[in-house]
Amino acid sequence: MAARRRENWDSILDPKTQAFRMFSMAARILVQVGDITQQKVDAVVNAANRELTGGSGVNGAIHKAGGPEIYHFCEELRATRYRDGLPTGQSVITPGGKLSAKWVIHTVGPKYGQHDGKEVELLASCYQTALELAESHKLESIAFPAISTGVYGYPSDEAAKVAWQVIQDMLPKLKSVKEIRMVFFDERAKRTWEDGAR
Ligand code: APR
Repeated sequence: MAARRRENWDSILDPKTQAFRMFSMAARILVQVGDITQQKVDAVVNAANRELTGGSGVNGAIHKAGGPEIYHFCEELRATRYRDGLPTGQSVITPGGKLSAKWVIHTVGPKYGQHDGKEVELLASCYQTALELAESHKLESIAFPAISTGVYGYPSDEAAKVAWQVIQDMLPKLKSVKEIRMVFFDERAKRTWEDGAR
C-alpha cells in the first residue's frame, strides 16, 4: 500500500539548503539538518520523558531555549492530568514560550528493548498522536526530531522506518497540516532517515 501511494510522490534535493524535500498531494515533507529549537513552524515536537521534566538532548534544548513558561505548563500537567506521568507513546501540547514555534508537542518515546517487543507500536504512536494533536489544534507545520534515537537508544535506521510509515499512513487524513519537517542534528542521521524512507 505504501509503495503504491509513493507513486504520487515527488522529491528534490534543494541545492541551497541541501534539504531533501518530498512532496505529496497532501503535505510536503522536509528532511533537514538543524536544531529543533530554531525551527520556524507552528509546533516543534519534544522528545520528552514521562515526568515531563527537563532533561538532556532535545528536551534540555527545548526547555533552555523556550524558557520557564514551558516548564510551568509541564508542571501543571504533572499535577493534574498526568500524575502518573505521560504514558509512553502519548503526546501532549503546551505553549512554546520563547521559541519561534508557538507550540511544543511533548511525546514520550520508548526506551529501546524495554517494552516487551512493543517498541515499534509505541514509537509509531508518538508520531501519530503528535500529528493528531497538530490537526486538532489546526496547525499547519510541525517539526520532529528523531524521537528515541538518543538517550532512549532506538537504532536510527529502525526508527526512520517506523516514522516514515506513520507519516505515509497519516498523510491522507491530514487536513490542516501542510508541512512536516524531520530535523536531524547531523548529516549522517539525516541520510539514515532518508535511506529508511526510500
Ligand atoms: N535538534 C535536533 N535534534 C537533536 C537536538 C536538537 N537540538 N538535540 C539532540 N538531537 C537528536 C539526538 O542526536 C537524537 O538523535 O535528537 C535525537 C533524540 O535524542 P534525545 O533528545 O536523547 O531523545 P530520546 O532518545 O527520545 O530520549 C529522551 O532524553 O533528555 C532525555 O528527558 C529526556 O528522558 C528523555 C530522553
